[in-house]
Amino acid sequence: MKSILVSMLLLSTTFCAVVPSVKKVDYSGFKVIRVASTDDVKDQIESLAAHVLNPGKSTEIDVVVSPDNVEALIALVAESKVLNEDVGAALAEEGEMQTYAVPSESWFTAYHPYADHLQFLKDLQAGYTGQSEIVTVGTSIQGRVLTGIHIWGSGGKGSKPAVVIHGNVHAREWITSMTTEYFAWQLLTNATFKSLVDKFDFYITPIVNPDGFVYTQTTDRLWRKNRQTVSGNTCVGRDINRNWPYKWEVAGGASTSPCSETYKGQVAGDAPENKGLKAQVDSLKGSRGISLYLDVHSYGQYILWPYGYDCNLRAENDAQHRSIATRAQSAIRAVSGTAYTIGPSCSTLYATTGSSTDYTDVQGNATYSYTYELRDTGSYGFTLPANQIKPTVVETWAGVVSMLKDA
Ligand code: ARG
Ligand code: ZN
Repeated sequence: MKSILVSMLLLSTTFCAVVPSVKKVDYSGFKVIRVASTDDVKDQIESLAAHVLNPGKSTEIDVVVSPDNVEALIALVAESKVLNEDVGAALAEEGEMQTYAVPSESWFTAYHPYADHLQFLKDLQAGYTGQSEIVTVGTSIQGRVLTGIHIWGSGGKGSKPAVVIHGNVHAREWITSMTTEYFAWQLLTNATFKSLVDKFDFYITPIVNPDGFVYTQTTDRLWRKNRQTVSGNTCVGRDINRNWPYKWEVAGGASTSPCSETYKGQVAGDAPENKGLKAQVDSLKGSRGISLYLDVHSYGQYILWPYGYDCNLRAENDAQHRSIATRAQSAIRAVSGTAYTIGPSCSTLYATTGSSTDYTDVQGNATYSYTYELRDTGSYGFTLPANQIKPTVVETWAGVVSMLKDA
């Protein structure tokens, strides 16, 4: 009896080991289609879609659809337009992963595995131990450490108002970790920016959703949320930018369905990633105060500021938010001609509840809070080709430098 049990056990462990745990989603032949949506067909659109690329938009929805569902989707809606004929081909254009050596300009010519992102930050910091340190901002649901870099100048560590920057909140927005890493790289390696380094203490965390990011590399390139489960439900993930504990309970700017791309969670702030990010904001608020908060997303080419939860409400310093964003917009255009749209986030893009910048503005008492939506406007979307990394990080940095001078 005992030996049967043992061999059954052995058999089952062997069995588990040979079954591939996950198979990478193959997007060959999948299309991106922009469809005109109305309330009566919205749910059907979402169930036909493999992914909604711009969750939150109500009238014009961009979806990724499998070849099998294309016909049904087009029949369902009044208007549709194919934006991309083959997502699989677009993914191939994104470029090969590059092996990593040491921090150098060539980092910004390819996308990289998660472990290399951590190594890049550590190696960068190791070259500037007198003015930087690695900081941990929290822990993900799967136990990965949210890893950032704290950079300071001649006033010494922790002497100036804070600039807090978060990247890769949404897992599929790979350009955002590259871009926020470029900010850290420029601040430390380029003497041109000494006056900015002396003016603030910077806290830059390029990947605040490490589990989601890893999942986009192992399994599904278009994953957005974290990887937290909900008991009794098979759908995975909370939207970290709908989970912040400010106006979380307001209806209309997030989903209460665990299967949605914008699932807000069961309770405000119940994603471990959000607990860490909130603690960072709260502690800096309580010490030196936050001058500028940037949440870096893609895509769409927007600079947005509060509020997300109410389209009629304006921040008390709305005019200053606008003038700083206007100058950043010009600085970006001057580098490359890239056109950004600017405005308060709800009225300019769509409603969001439990989003970062509403929290940092009201609860974090940050003087300025912005969401960047980087390149492009939808041709490549989240899978921006590697040859656009460099131009994107350079133009975005020009916008951010402009903001840092103004803030
Ligand atoms: N596209 C991002 C998202 O859906 C940013 C939304 C901007 N709004 C805001 N309130 N931060 O999360
Ligand atoms: Zn995003």
